[in-house]
Amino acid sequence: MYESWFTYPLTRPYPFRWFTPVVIAGGVVLAVLFSFANIASNGHFLKPIYVENPNVTLSSALKWYMKPPFNWDTTFKAQCQASIISVGDRFFTSSLGLQYEVQSIVRESDQLTLPSLAYLNNPLEDCFLQSSALELQKVDRAKQPSWWMSWVSSKASAVASCRITTDQGAVNLTVALQFTGGEVSAINNNYTTHASTWWGQSLIRNYFWGVVLLMSQIEIPEEVGDYISIGTINYIRNQSVSDIKSPSFFSDNHWFVSDTSLIMNTEDDIFIPVKDEGRHYTRLLQSLASLDMGNCQSPNLLLDQENLKYAIIDLNSTSRRPGGLLFDKAEDMANPIRAVEITLPDNPDEQVFLSEAYDKISPKMGALECSNATIVKQYLCSVPQQKATGTMLVSILLTNLVFLQAAWKLLNLISEGIMWQTGSRVDICQGCISRGYQDVHPEGLELRGMPIAGERSSTLTGDESTQNLLQDREGEITKPSSMVSVV
Ligand SMILES: *[C@@H]1O[C@H](CO)[C@@H](O)[C@H](O)[C@H]1NC(C)=O
Ligand SMILES: *[C@@H]1O[C@H](CO)[C@@H](O)[C@H](O)[C@H]1NC(C)=O
Ligand SMILES: *[C@@H]1O[C@H](CO)[C@@H](O)[C@H](O)[C@H]1NC(C)=O
Ligand SMILES: *[C@@H]1O[C@H](CO)[C@@H](O)[C@H](O)[C@H]1NC(C)=O
Ligand SMILES: *[C@@H]1O[C@H](CO)[C@@H](O)[C@H](O)[C@H]1NC(C)=O
Ligand SMILES: *[C@@H]1O[C@H](CO)[C@@H](O)[C@H](O)[C@H]1NC(C)=O
Repeated sequence: MYESWFTYPLTRPYPFRWFTPVVIAGGVVLAVLFSFANIASNGHFLKPIYVENPNVTLSSALKWYMKPPFNWDTTFKAQCQASIISVGDRFFTSSLGLQYEVQSIVRESDQLTLPSLAYLNNPLEDCFLQSSALELQKVDRAKQPSWWMSWVSSKASAVASCRITTDQGAVNLTVALQFTGGEVSAINNNYTTHASTWWGQSLIRNYFWGVVLLMSQIEIPEEVGDYISIGTINYIRNQSVSDIKSPSFFSDNHWFVSDTSLIMNTEDDIFIPVKDEGRHYTRLLQSLASLDMGNCQSPNLLLDQENLKYAIIDLNSTSRRPGGLLFDKAEDMANPIRAVEITLPDNPDEQVFLSEAYDKISPKMGALECSNATIVKQYLCSVPQQKATGTMLVSILLTNLVFLQAAWKLLNLISEGIMWQTGSRVDICQGCISRGYQDVHPEGLELRGMPIAGERSSTLTGDESTQNLLQDREGEITKPSSMVSVV
């Protein structure tokens, strides 16, 4: 007969009454249990996505397949990577107003300067305008007083500071506002949703050109020269003063250079109107920057109606009062529109004087508002996602099969162990039993408990009994073949 390399095991039914019910019931129970356990490990995968608000993603409710009984691992959650903010980076806040450039990052605990910061949507705290500088420059050689065009290339700059509390501790962030003097580009200046930003942006333009106009009107003494060629006024926030309308809210200093290169930094009365106008301009910058950076507690002119009236016209400034250089038409200056007129929010072609701006414009505007702000960034998060049903079923089925196979093997081992324990021989095949050989002793052949062998068979030993047995069964004398003892 041909013999293959491969073999097959011989089988015998288990002699236990409980075996079949245990296999069926246990199989079903285990299949259900394994399915539950496998849904947790195979039912989902981690998907990378970009989000703007990682706090919502991180705290979003767990899905059904992430909860007991499918999953007992309570740390199973979405993960988000921090975004890196480095010195020199530009950003804007969730208020969608100004843009800022990071100038320095200082850790508060040890005053160590850091190159970058791992940022995870932490709110900006205690932001305020530290200082601003009006950088005034004359472009022509016309004798003072001339007109505003002479100073058209004047600029301004401002620096603000904020605290950010991250997982690594609090840092002090210094940022430079990105704007060019009169033009503050707000990302969203919608007058119904961002009314405070709209007012701030518009008034800052008026007061910047007010500074330029007043600068062009200064008359300088004969002995100093014909005109002032360049100058700077610095405003520095005095944090011990909390009244934003007070002149000492910002302390100031200035220097000017005349065409004959004489430096004029004495407390000269001729600069007072310019400095007052610049102070109001800086107040507006402070108001806009701190509300844009979410500091709603700091002194602000753009968050309530009374202060807004003051923001529109600073009546303490001599030039803005009736009769002053910058009141209404300001007829004695050429083209003063940009300093004294404001464009209607709903009609860019129509303008009104500042003196009537509050009455005409405020009914059209939305609420003056401020809310906590964060830096707008995109965060890479890995979130658990349920697999497609088909894929999930196949992978659960596969894992279940492996597990059930292992359980089956284990049950076999245990049952065989029980059979050895109870003395029944496991190593005789079904075929041999049906031929009459149930048990073999090591010292020879012994047949025991054979119903056909009758009374004698259990006690007889040796070749004789075997012969007798075989004789009884077959009805004739047959010699036991050598194969019998091999079994
Ligand atoms: C977002 O979560 C981070 C880390 O858990 C936390 O520091 C920050 O304050 C949260 N931001 C907001 C706006 O709640
Ligand atoms: C940041 O540091 C500057 C300079 O030391 C300080 O004036 C300012 O108050 C600090 N800002 C905050 C928010 O603490
Ligand atoms: C301002 O926002 C409102 C509400 O979102 C919108 O209906 C309106 O069109 C916006 N106006 C402008 C000028 O974008
Ligand atoms: C800040 O204001 C206080 C009170 O008005 C004053 O005493 C102090 O000199 C001011 N500081 C600076 C640096 O101007
Ligand atoms: C500003 O003007 C108001 C009234 O118009 C007056 O009560 C107040 O004292 C003035 N403030 C300053 C600093 O001049
Ligand atoms: C805004 O931030 C302040 C602290 O900076 C906190 O006390 C306040 O509850 C926050 N408001 C909202 C609406 O989150």
